[in-house]
Amino acid sequence: MVKAAVLYEQKSPMIIEDVELDDPKAGEVLVKIGAAGICRSDRHYMHGDAPTLLPVVLGHEGAGTVEAVGPGVTSVRPGQQVILSFVSSCGRCKSCLTGNAHLCDAHAAAGAFMFDGTTRLHKGDTRIHHFGKTACFSEHSVMPEAAVVPIDTPIGMDIAAMIGCCVPTGVGAVISSAKVKPGSTVAVVGCGGVGLNVIMGAAISSASKIIAVDIRESQLEFAMKFGATHTVNASDKDPVAQVKELTDGKGVDYAFEVFGSADTTKASYDMTAKSGTVTVVGIAPVGAEAGINAVDMVRNEKTMRGTYYGSTQAAVDMPKLVDMYLSKKLPLDDLVVRHYSLDQINEAYDDMDNGEVGRGIVMF
Ligand SMILES: NC(=O)c1ccc[n+]([C@@H]2O[C@H](COP(=O)([O-])OP(=O)(O)OC[C@H]3O[C@@H](n4cnc5c(N)ncnc54)[C@H](O)[C@@H]3O)[C@@H](O)[C@H]2O)c1
Ligand SMILES: [Zn+2]
Ligand SMILES: [Zn+2]
Repeated sequence: MVKAAVLYEQKSPMIIEDVELDDPKAGEVLVKIGAAGICRSDRHYMHGDAPTLLPVVLGHEGAGTVEAVGPGVTSVRPGQQVILSFVSSCGRCKSCLTGNAHLCDAHAAAGAFMFDGTTRLHKGDTRIHHFGKTACFSEHSVMPEAAVVPIDTPIGMDIAAMIGCCVPTGVGAVISSAKVKPGSTVAVVGCGGVGLNVIMGAAISSASKIIAVDIRESQLEFAMKFGATHTVNASDKDPVAQVKELTDGKGVDYAFEVFGSADTTKASYDMTAKSGTVTVVGIAPVGAEAGINAVDMVRNEKTMRGTYYGSTQAAVDMPKLVDMYLSKKLPLDDLVVRHYSLDQINEAYDDMDNGEVGRGIVMF
């Protein structure tokens, strides 16, 4: 039996209870979860903005310690600290073989099941699904070997958990997806856990201006600690006009949408300069469509793209992010504002909705 937060119904709180967890099968590992981040991506499933199989244990931003390995596992051993990857790349599909392990076709096809189409979590005969195959809102979790990335130098579990999602997603969006050039101007629309990492990525990339855009003054003040050079409060005045005002009427070279809505996606596009790039990180509710001026896109040669997991190749990029943290290039300690227990997880998500700054983390 393990204690886990189970979502039985969308638009209802998660239930914290004991559930059964089977042993790892071939190619799987059992992880004792150390920390799990409060990321908005899980929230979309709770709110009903994204479809999911139910019941499900959510949690995709995590870290822990390997406790046991199933037959055939060679890359990790019990006792090792690991960061969780919410995409378990198979290494054989077209995406994996073309440098896009973060878009693995086999992982997507298996959805919230293990690769063999079953679950290790259940309660009696009721199977419980594993979100991201990581399901880390649980004291222990079984996942594919490809979902764990070992760390050589142990770091705080809360920091390691963030390197499982908000850090690679945010920093990767800048470095690996948009490839921001030094001296560029950047706007970041939505300065929560992921947006602050976009700001850090832009600072590392030597952007000349980093404009933080949010609807909350507290988030904007907090963003200045991570490298934002200007702030725009979108709650009272048009953010597009304000960003243009700060860039001689031109708009920014790179805009990043990091909230997840049609409106913020359109605003991010509209604040992008001639030959600029807008990168959409936020996940809007299913069915959302953002109306883009198609002529402007052509005449001004704008590029619009999405980024999933910051285009991160987990096994290679996560250890690099750990090194960047250890060499003080990424001030991740400042990002953690609050620790919660698993029993407080619903409260942690309410705090996120109510505008808590930085990243909340559940510690086990
Ligand atoms: N692409 C990916 O792979 C990936 C990975 C992780 C998270 N995400 C998505 O990124 C988004 C952000 O996640 P997070 O965990 O940082 O969430 P968060 O709640 O911590 O941050 C969102 C921020 O957006 C701000 N905001 C709300 N409305 C706004 C508006 N109209 N204009 C400007 N700012 C506004 C909020 O005040 C908050 O600071 C979510 O949609 C999440 O699902 C995507
Ligand atoms: Zn996430
Ligand atoms: Zn694959």
